[in-house]
Amino acid sequence: MKRKILIEPDPILRKKCEPLEQVNNEVRRLMEEMLETMYDAPGIGLAAVQIGILKRLVVIDITKDEKKKDPLFLINPVIIKKSDKTSIYEEGCLSLPGQYAEIERPAECYLKYVDLNGKEKELKAEGLLSTCIQHEVDHLNGVLFIDYLSKLKKDMIIKKLVKHKKEIKRIVV
Ligand code: NI
Repeated sequence: MKRKILIEPDPILRKKCEPLEQVNNEVRRLMEEMLETMYDAPGIGLAAVQIGILKRLVVIDITKDEKKKDPLFLINPVIIKKSDKTSIYEEGCLSLPGQYAEIERPAECYLKYVDLNGKEKELKAEGLLSTCIQHEVDHLNGVLFIDYLSKLKKDMIIKKLVKHKKEIKRIVV
């Protein structure tokens, strides 16, 4: 089942998410729904908080080929190391539709997480995956990419999103 994605400004997107205590079928089902919602959007990453669930859960798939899906399910991800070397990507976010900005982040990161079988895993990420992981882990701490921009730019984007939300309401009514 596809879920509704929360759009900024929404106070839920600013909450800090709680670690998941136990991986069970309910969690596996939820993460499949997160993946379905992400593919449908379409996007390459989604955190549970974006569908209103305040748990530390992330799904990612950076493959562009639709026939070769390669989803990554991250439960309680923790970045344990970041490189000094940085890279810049133009980032977007499913909770900030139509908004993009160049963001500089560490080019590589090392991650600890739990997989869908409850197993502890480690991962070294670079390039797009590194940026995507950092973007998603930010979500778990109530941080959005616009927080890295100047106040002026950030306020401008939020204003546009507020206006966009109002326009959507007008059509529905
Ligand atoms: Ni995002």
